[in-house]
Amino acid sequence: MLKIENVKRLGSEQLETLFVENGYIKGWNLNDTAEQTLDGRGGTVIPALIELHAHLREPGQTEKEDLASGLAAAAAGGYGTVVSMPNTSPVVDDPSIVRALIEKADGLGLARLRPAAALTKGQSGKELAELALLKDAGAVMFTDDGRTNEDARMLRLGLEYAHSLGLMVSVHAEDATLRADGVMNEGPVSEALGLPGNPAAAEAARVARDIEIAAFTGARLHVQHLSTARALDLVREAKKRGVPVTCEVCPHHLTLTDEALRSFDALYKVAPPLRTQADADALLAGLLDGTVDCLSTDHAPHTRAEKERDLLEAPFGIAYIELAFPLMVTRFADTLGVERIVNLMTSAPARLMGWDEPNLTEGAPADFTVVDLDTERVVDPSTFKSKAKHTPWAGETLRGWPTLTVVGGRVAFERA
Ligand code: DOR
Repeated sequence: MLKIENVKRLGSEQLETLFVENGYIKGWNLNDTAEQTLDGRGGTVIPALIELHAHLREPGQTEKEDLASGLAAAAAGGYGTVVSMPNTSPVVDDPSIVRALIEKADGLGLARLRPAAALTKGQSGKELAELALLKDAGAVMFTDDGRTNEDARMLRLGLEYAHSLGLMVSVHAEDATLRADGVMNEGPVSEALGLPGNPAAAEAARVARDIEIAAFTGARLHVQHLSTARALDLVREAKKRGVPVTCEVCPHHLTLTDEALRSFDALYKVAPPLRTQADADALLAGLLDGTVDCLSTDHAPHTRAEKERDLLEAPFGIAYIELAFPLMVTRFADTLGVERIVNLMTSAPARLMGWDEPNLTEGAPADFTVVDLDTERVVDPSTFKSKAKHTPWAGETLRGWPTLTVVGGRVAFERA
């Protein structure tokens, strides 16, 4: 038995004790004795966060991240479960890779891994992967993320096949031909900087196409990392018509804009790109009115050397799974409220995946996180567990830091 003393429930100031046994919540404020006692230091217990979109880079790109570093970073960020993206080397398009990833991750005792598999073989967009076998091996989602599903018929077949298996397809919705070689949002800033732009229309056009495919197939479609006001409007309108479409937004698109590229720093280079303040405001409105279904990070680690390259050459991606929750709490507790932020990072992703909604009552799986909603800390990337020890928010003061993450009743992270 494990007990955690001096913790609060969200919205309460009362200090309580939470008991955990055999991977499940045994109850609150019991008279039982425990072999292990931890001090929650007055923090607030929330369900462990669920990440539907992270790049952990294993197999094959482990100089950027690996399961051990990525899942440790996730646990430090308060995540209990992570869906990993399949754009690795080789691509996760074979059941044996899915099995190997799960087996390895299970042995680490960190955040739990739930791999996504590629929708098409090699993420080529040309031939469907063996979706049923991938599901049997443990894949929980299909996506060619990082690639853009240019072949509409292939997406149609993939959506229908995945739907029949009861799994979600998520799409990186950008028209590759419109995006072309754009390295940032197309607009006055890209023009001023003389950098190739990626127009908002690249996302909107692709979201419009994919919504039509979801509408006529009736198969569930999830749009990843939505970044523009226009694409959000399309999702809002489609939902009103009953189209089975859902979407996620990422904290980086809510908190940064294309103005950051004036630094010419590739830390801010990400796909889809950082947009305008009007887009960020629209995404926030989408969170408030329920058009946006959940938050995800698109944690996309690259080496420092890669991100120090010229803006035209550097890879796309921002890595920040360790600070996504504090970033959201610090910037949006006033507008969204902590409870809604927690919901968007726990129950909401669970619902999308058809998983049991996490809760903290007796008998529930012991997946929870203690967060300190008050103490401010400066972001110091040198302390990151991720191999990507660089981030746009270095040096910023944030509050809402996770201090303890418990996954399946085991301590996966404890802040010193
Ligand atoms: O910025 C991004 N980086 N967007 C993606 O879709 C892929 C990701 C990566 O794999 O680095």
